[in-house]
Amino acid sequence: MKGKEYATPFPMLHAASLLSHTSRIRKFREAIRRVVKTNDHVVDLGTGSGILAILAAKQGARVTAVDVNQDSLAYAREAAGQNGVADRIEFVHSHFVDFSIGRRADVVICEMLSSMMLIEQQVSASSYAVENLLKPSGHIIPEEVRIFAVPVQNEIQWNRFQIDDLSFPRVPQTVERGQSVDLADLMELACFDLTIPNPDAKVDKTLDFKIVQTGIVHGLLGMFECRLHSEIVLTMDDGWRELFLPLPKPVDMKAGQTLSLRVEFRPGEYDSLLLQTH
Ligand SMILES: C[S@@+](CC[C@H](N)C(=O)[O-])C[C@H]1O[C@@H](n2cnc3c(N)ncnc32)[C@H](O)[C@@H]1O
Repeated sequence: MKGKEYATPFPMLHAASLLSHTSRIRKFREAIRRVVKTNDHVVDLGTGSGILAILAAKQGARVTAVDVNQDSLAYAREAAGQNGVADRIEFVHSHFVDFSIGRRADVVICEMLSSMMLIEQQVSASSYAVENLLKPSGHIIPEEVRIFAVPVQNEIQWNRFQIDDLSFPRVPQTVERGQSVDLADLMELACFDLTIPNPDAKVDKTLDFKIVQTGIVHGLLGMFECRLHSEIVLTMDDGWRELFLPLPKPVDMKAGQTLSLRVEFRPGEYDSLLLQTH
């Protein structure tokens, strides 16, 4: 697929379920409190339940809240009314690449984070926002995201695409961390500065993992850390699950050996993923 075709299918009920991640919301709330000033124009890209738009409106901003999902926008509109800020938020049904504004915004908020920046479009949406929507002196939340990976043993995940005599193509799956055994230490895969345009962002790195525990590598487990503003940092514990990337074939490894793994993908383009062992 290409560009605009990656509108992450994100049902309204899933967007509403993110309201239960209270530590995530508290960190965004603190970042918004520090960055957004009364009468600022704020754009919220991927508004979902409307939570971040509502927090910005409560801070005295005029907000334009954008989402590709009509049902989520209807829910967010109702939530804005319930919280007394309906007159401060304009809701726009659009893919972010089709969204433009006359005068650039003081602040852009964009939460399309996914475990490895592989599934959702955090990197491309932030890049588009900095290039097309944000004043040069404006602020974007979040500001930076770093992704990490570790080779793991996880037979259940690797085998889940084989059902009796039926087999299906293996694709990345979110998992609970405790379900896998780490066979090496975590390594950084990439760091994206979201305050600058990054239209050609790509991950293409060979990681040399020093195996610390003998076992079978079934795949990589990916995770992230994200700086919202200043020292306010989101981690996986704030509401995300790790992403399991299955290897084409499991690899037997002994403690002390090195596993060289090439990881290649364009952020937000889940079908661009390439995993290769050397
Ligand atoms: C992770 S949710 C975040 C929702 C809300 N901002 C929050 O923090 O709870 C991402 C939202 O972005 C929307 N989205 C995904 N791809 C999009 C795109 N290409 N253009 C506009 N919105 C998009 C989804 O429909 C979803 O509501």
